[in-house]
Amino acid sequence: MSERLVWSPLRLGPVVVRNRIVFSAHLTNYATQDGLPSEQHAAYYAARAAGGAGLIITEEHSTHPTDWPYEKLIHGFKPEVLPGYRQMTEAVHAHRTPIFAQINHNGGQASSMFSRTPVWAPSPVADPLFREVPKAVSHAEIAEIIEGYGAVAARCAEGGFDGIELQCSHSSIVRGFLSPATNHRTDGYGGSLENRARLLLDLVGAVRTAIGPGLALGVRLCGDELIEGGTTIDEAVDVARMVEATGQVDYINTSIGVATASLFMIEASMHVAPGYAMFIPSAIRKAVDLPVVGVGRFKDPLQAERALEEGHCDLVGVVRGQIADADFVAKARAGHTDDTRLCLSCNQECVGRMGLNRWLGCIENPRTGRESEHGGEVRLTSKPRSVLVVGAGPAGMQAAIAAARSGHRVTICERDHQPGGQIRLAASVPNRAEFGDLVRNQTSECRRLGVSLETGVSIDAIEVRRRRADVVIVATGADPARPWWAGDAANVCDIRDVLEGAVSPSGDVVVIDEIGFHHATSVAELLADRGCQVEVITPGMVVGQDLGITLDMENWWIRADAKGIVQSTELVPMGLEDGTLSLQHHPTGTMVERRPDWVVCAVPGTPADGLYHELRAAGIEAVRVGDCVAPRRAHAAVVEGERAGIAV
Ligand SMILES: Cc1cc2nc3c(=O)[nH]c(=O)nc-3n(C[C@H](O)[C@H](O)[C@H](O)COP(=O)(O)O)c2cc1C
Ligand code: SF4
Repeated sequence: MSERLVWSPLRLGPVVVRNRIVFSAHLTNYATQDGLPSEQHAAYYAARAAGGAGLIITEEHSTHPTDWPYEKLIHGFKPEVLPGYRQMTEAVHAHRTPIFAQINHNGGQASSMFSRTPVWAPSPVADPLFREVPKAVSHAEIAEIIEGYGAVAARCAEGGFDGIELQCSHSSIVRGFLSPATNHRTDGYGGSLENRARLLLDLVGAVRTAIGPGLALGVRLCGDELIEGGTTIDEAVDVARMVEATGQVDYINTSIGVATASLFMIEASMHVAPGYAMFIPSAIRKAVDLPVVGVGRFKDPLQAERALEEGHCDLVGVVRGQIADADFVAKARAGHTDDTRLCLSCNQECVGRMGLNRWLGCIENPRTGRESEHGGEVRLTSKPRSVLVVGAGPAGMQAAIAAARSGHRVTICERDHQPGGQIRLAASVPNRAEFGDLVRNQTSECRRLGVSLETGVSIDAIEVRRRRADVVIVATGADPARPWWAGDAANVCDIRDVLEGAVSPSGDVVVIDEIGFHHATSVAELLADRGCQVEVITPGMVVGQDLGITLDMENWWIRADAKGIVQSTELVPMGLEDGTLSLQHHPTGTMVERRPDWVVCAVPGTPADGLYHELRAAGIEAVRVGDCVAPRRAHAAVVEGERAGIAV
């Protein structure tokens, strides 16, 4: 992309950003146990600055000890954060990129688990996620909150930040005050919009006083909470006007949803259309003169350029796009958009790991979360070897990428006629096509690194010797397993049989979900679309259990309902005889039966490790990675592939 709007600079008060791509705020869990910023924070943000981001906005820094909703939150209220602040800001400034700190108090959207003090909120309305009744704050406590924001903002200024963003959008006490759903007060902070916005405007004044005119100040607003009785776009626009009228704010950032009620729309997965949140910046920008940031599923710079050209926003937040590829901006600026490692919007290793209290990573970028290791350098080998990778699934491809990057000569041999392994199948079902970008991303990275990819080729020990490979990385994946209870019934198949087109189930179909992820739900949808009457049965408490952590659960329910898919839980298959499937309701021991035309199994596979053992027995140097070690999900394959490729 040549000189476009997206590459033009923009002034945000005292700060000029060099382009319009913002690495907007997001939790990382990189803080220390004591809530201090870490070396990993500095390396992570610096990598995105080096990769060309116009502006970095860090994750939230808590402004008060009553706000500790998750373990590794940056405790901005502690003076000890200062050295970490300086390390972070200096690392980012080294790349001539401004860095703002998002500051926040999460209010009632938290628990007392870590702080062991009641959570604070405008009214005693329990949050739907944390289910804890908060303490309604007194006027003295409101004054304490305002003082806390001022103190943290001043500390951020001392630590070298170029600006402050107030998180007033999807998880904040300010949002709590703004929203009619959570603010039931009858004093000067409740009732009319003017009253509900009072805390926000008080905070703007306090923070501006604390930072003076030399730093930028932004406010992040929710344009639609997507909850019953919550803030909608008309009120959000009015709040934006009030914010602008203070004359103390330099930009408005936007968001959609409430983090503890409608998070699946804030960090929308591939099941939500790109551009879904654009109506928010668009409406706000029409009402104010301040620069407005639009955010939500921008996957590539062309989408960003279109949003800017069409006047929806002045800046574009690209969060997961830059988690997946730190060089998102630099590649596009250089005209190498095709080289971008496109985010899959899968939420598996970024959002998903946050939900599990682990550090932020990325399913397809093993460097994410590890930027501080080895100074971020790639070590080139002094002894290039000839590496044969067998299998072009995510593990094999990543092994090839890592080995080639280190300077080895790499060939991948794939038995199938296309690369991708199970990823290709996973991406072939309704709404999951973006998952296939993993194959596209890895294939093009292999091409750039000079990896030779041969498809339709089978490998055995004789072939390895003929090819004179120094080392073989075996990534042969997993085979479907037939469950013990299925016997030899002809109407039982694996999901892979369906996806590969080997069978075409029709009529009444039971899909057994023993994996608890997209496998069963995807095939259920595919078959429902083909006209089957589908029931998904799981021994678990919920079908597709892990869809919760990737924020896919809500939309699965909506789609399943629309397609007439029945979901039955806590049922364990016990046998299939004469067409009758016996199931035990395990909490009670009760037996139930079904007589489906087909049973489709989403059950754990078995490692396809035959080649690995054959090579080892033949005395050939071989390592194995991914599902042929133990069948798991794609992130494990990528991480293991990376490790094996580096270790060559
Ligand atoms: C793992 C993760 C954590 C997030 N945490 C925050 C946060 O602390 N504050 C905030 O304002 N937004 C947060 N967000 C929301 C992002 O700023 C952004 O609105 C969202 O990811 C959509 O943008 P994207 O599609 O470019 O990823 C988070 C997003 C992700 C992926
Ligand atoms: S884990 Fe998935 S959604 Fe998250 S940044 Fe990586 S590719 Fe994108």
